[in-house]
Amino acid sequence: MKTSLYWNGDAIIAVDQRVLPREYRLLRITSMDELIDAIQSLAIRGAPAIGLAGALGVALSAHLHQAAGDTDAAAVEADAARLAQARPTAVNLAWGVRRALGRLADGPEAVLAEATAMLEEDAAVNSAAVWRAADLVLSLTPKRPLRLLTHCNTGRLATAAVGTALGTIVELAERGCVAEVLVDETRPLLQGSRLTAWELCEAAVPYRICVDSAAAAAMTQGLVDCVLVGADRIADNGDMANKIGTYALAVAAAHHGIPFLVVAPESTWDRTLPDGSGILIEERDPAEVTHHAGMAVTPVGAGVYNPAFDVTPARLITAIVSEGRTVAGGRAGKPDTPAGTMVTTSP
Ligand code: MRU
Repeated sequence: MKTSLYWNGDAIIAVDQRVLPREYRLLRITSMDELIDAIQSLAIRGAPAIGLAGALGVALSAHLHQAAGDTDAAAVEADAARLAQARPTAVNLAWGVRRALGRLADGPEAVLAEATAMLEEDAAVNSAAVWRAADLVLSLTPKRPLRLLTHCNTGRLATAAVGTALGTIVELAERGCVAEVLVDETRPLLQGSRLTAWELCEAAVPYRICVDSAAAAAMTQGLVDCVLVGADRIADNGDMANKIGTYALAVAAAHHGIPFLVVAPESTWDRTLPDGSGILIEERDPAEVTHHAGMAVTPVGAGVYNPAFDVTPARLITAIVSEGRTVAGGRAGKPDTPAGTMVTTSP
């Protein structure tokens, strides 16, 4: 499996997701500032990937400070604190940083070993979640072959291995069950049309780019049998934050009676939040909206609303699938079961 993120001895190597699909370029990251910039500019993006980058970043910091003769844990802890705040919405970043930092007392090699173990775990977690989610999709949808719709990028670029929702789609295609994937373009940064389409092309899965605002129209025309998305943070009751536009998709899917599935690792759950109202939503630079390819596409001075994520309430979700369990959302057909509490060990 080609991995999008790894350690090569003295640096973090990552696929630069800003320049795909025009160019496949690897970044060699050797400082904390470079890593934070890579995460904030979305060179490294996707909740699991930024969690892993956070863990590798703590290892990088520990090695850099050791090489400089600075063995004081406080310097690495300060780097870790800065890194954990690079993006606020995905819980995985702070989780990855915290987990790697937990080994700091044992030295830089122990921190690196933890980060490397997390990369391997992520691959195993991806595979388990993808199998479970693929089986669930087949049990929920009578039609074959399937027409699927996805949003943003949840594939190998966003994780250490096959991905979550997109990994599930590729798995279903490998089982011979996919007619076509509608790939939301995912404005404004086009993670769908640039990255998901690139991955589906690589995996030889048939797809069409779907204008974001056409998703509901596609549903009403019978072009969608199931919607699959990832998540950046899932609250205790099953409300979940994901790329802006996910909530609108969930509303449309509920209206059309189409299953809406979330595939995400257990590390994306944030049990400290009772519901989604406490999830901090990142607002990004207005220039992402006012400009395209360096050219202004709005009047000078136009005000901009550019949240990077939205929160989908559990009541609009059919199920949330992780490596270990399937949690029923509010649309699972069991109104007597509070969302997020019904846990099954098989689909
Ligand atoms: O801003 P991004 O591109 O990092 O947003 C990513 C998403 O919203 C993904 O759907 C989510 O992180 C899950 S990736 C497996």
